[in-house]
Amino acid sequence: MQQGALEIIQGDITSLEVDAIVNAANQSLLGGGGVDGAIHRAAGPKLLEECKTLGGCPTGEARMTAGYDLPANYVIHTVGPVWGGGDHNEDSLLAGCYRNSLQLAVDHKLRSIAFPSISTGIYHFPIERASHVALRIVLDFLEAEESAPRVLFTCFSEQDLAVYRKTYEELQA
Ligand code: APR
Repeated sequence: MQQGALEIIQGDITSLEVDAIVNAANQSLLGGGGVDGAIHRAAGPKLLEECKTLGGCPTGEARMTAGYDLPANYVIHTVGPVWGGGDHNEDSLLAGCYRNSLQLAVDHKLRSIAFPSISTGIYHFPIERASHVALRIVLDFLEAEESAPRVLFTCFSEQDLAVYRKTYEELQA
C-alpha cells in the first residue's frame, strides 16, 4: 500500500508490525480493559512506566510512547468520549482522537498507523455513527496532508469490519 492510503482489516492490533498502533485509553493513561488492556499486556510493564510520566491525557487528545515489546515501534494513546446520548460533543471529541493521532504520526514522520474502533466498546459510542466520524476525518486528513501515513483501521470482530467497510463504501459513493 502506498503512503497515505487507507485499509480496513480485521485483526488484533497488538500483532501489527506498523510504526504506531493507537490505543483507546482513558484519561489516566494507566491501563484498563479492552484494547487498552491488550496493548499493555503485549507491550509489557515498561509501557505503564512511561505512561506514568505523561500526567494523563484529556478526552480527544493524543500522547505518544514507545512500543516496547510490541511489534509496533510506538503507541499513540488517545482518549475517546464516553457516549452520553450524542449531544455532549461526542462526535467532535471522537474526531479529535483521530486527527490528533494522525498529526502526531506526521510530526514524527511515521509511515504507518493502525487504529482500533475508538470509543465503540466500553465507552458505548454507537459503532455505525463512530465509523462515519472516523472515516470522514481520516479520509479528509489523507486528502489534505501529503506526508500522511498509511492508515489501517483494525476491527476486532467481523461485525465491526462489516460496519466500517459499509461506511467506507457510502463515503466513497
Ligand atoms: N485489537 C483491535 N481491537 C480491539 C482489541 C484488539 N486486541 N481488543 C478490543 N478491541 C476493540 C473492541 O472490540 C472495540 O471495537 O477495540 C474497540 C474499542 O473498545 P474498548 O477497548 O472497549 O475501548 P473504548 O470503547 O474506547 O473504551 C475505553 O476502556 O479499556 C478501557 O482504559 C480503557 O477506560 C478506557 C475504555
